[in-house]
Amino acid sequence: MPSDAPLSLLGGLTAAEFLRDYWQRKPLLIRGAFVDFESPLDPDELAGLACEEGVEARLVEEDGPDGPWQVSHGPFDEAVFGELPERDWTLLVQAVDHYVPEVAELLEHFDFLPRWRLDDIMISYAPPGGSVGPHVDQYDVFLIQGLGRRRWQLGGRVPDDAPIIPGIDLRILERFTVAAGDDWVLEPGDMLYLPPGWAHHGVSQSDDCMTYSVGFRAPSADEAVTSFADFIGERLPPSLRYADAGMTPPADPAELDDAALERMRRLILSTLDEPSQLAQWFGRVMTQPKYVDQLVPSDTPTDVDELVALLQEGEELLRSPGSRFAWRALDDETATLFADGDGIACALPLARAVASDEPLDAELLAHEGAAELLAALYDAGSLAWAEEE
Ligand code: SIN
Ligand code: CO
Repeated sequence: MPSDAPLSLLGGLTAAEFLRDYWQRKPLLIRGAFVDFESPLDPDELAGLACEEGVEARLVEEDGPDGPWQVSHGPFDEAVFGELPERDWTLLVQAVDHYVPEVAELLEHFDFLPRWRLDDIMISYAPPGGSVGPHVDQYDVFLIQGLGRRRWQLGGRVPDDAPIIPGIDLRILERFTVAAGDDWVLEPGDMLYLPPGWAHHGVSQSDDCMTYSVGFRAPSADEAVTSFADFIGERLPPSLRYADAGMTPPADPAELDDAALERMRRLILSTLDEPSQLAQWFGRVMTQPKYVDQLVPSDTPTDVDELVALLQEGEELLRSPGSRFAWRALDDETATLFADGDGIACALPLARAVASDEPLDAELLAHEGAAELLAALYDAGSLAWAEEE
């Protein structure tokens, strides 16, 4: 996709303009981002998903039987939905793109962003008045109105320590002031982009309101430092440690002096400043599946010759729903393919093909090592045969 083409998804902005002026900086409302949008899922189907084992679902009741802003977690019994009041509740189902291919297809519209930044598509359903209260999320999100109408009000950027209502299971802002003009009712196909840390409040204005949240992931500094240190730590030899050869006698043996701190600082920085290790760690982190236990590894290793034969007979492998791929070149010919939190070295064009949307068929076998790579990915649960899906 050329980055200088105006995109109707972005209200006529080019990807480059959107990224320069809005992404991570400020909200953008796009009327009619999706023309004639028809929700691929209806409210009953969403409720059905929320009753399934392994699907992450929450129900938020503003005036719940056990108190205000009551949150319950799925899987739900179908009977629950018959007992709810006529208004002021919301059902939220996470990662619907993992279960409904038509929902996953929506993600293709966001190819102007790195795919490994995508997290999932959450879908909410609400009768009139339903909301999750004014709040802040720590991720970028595109809120697509799927069905009915929702009023969105924005309250600007709020600091990390903005007070939240105590004693409830939701992080609802204690104070929420609507910024002038930031108050809209969204219709199906309209879309609102919000950067992280931006206060927002969306309230259903219709009998059946469904909102699709296309959310993005970005590890916090806390998560990144901890996880990178773990990754690096496993690869460091025990002999690499604090060393103070050639030091001068301490002025006071109890003092932690500047020289000691400097030695420790250098030791730590020397282990961190290794670009290839950084790439190996980052690729693994950003391709970690959202739900690790949804990957189903093979019981026994795949026979590579059998896999080749099946591909040559015209069978196709599919990327498992929820599986995540990325690649990084190692040199002009080879790359690391990252798949579901693992990294495998292979031919560069092969890594690109597997991480793309292209079909995984016999044509791939033209690349050296393709059969072994595909077998390894199949055994890890990242790929499946088309008819197994
Ligand atoms: C919703 O869809 O009800 C809430 C989405 C959000 O505010 O992040
Ligand atoms: Co939100």
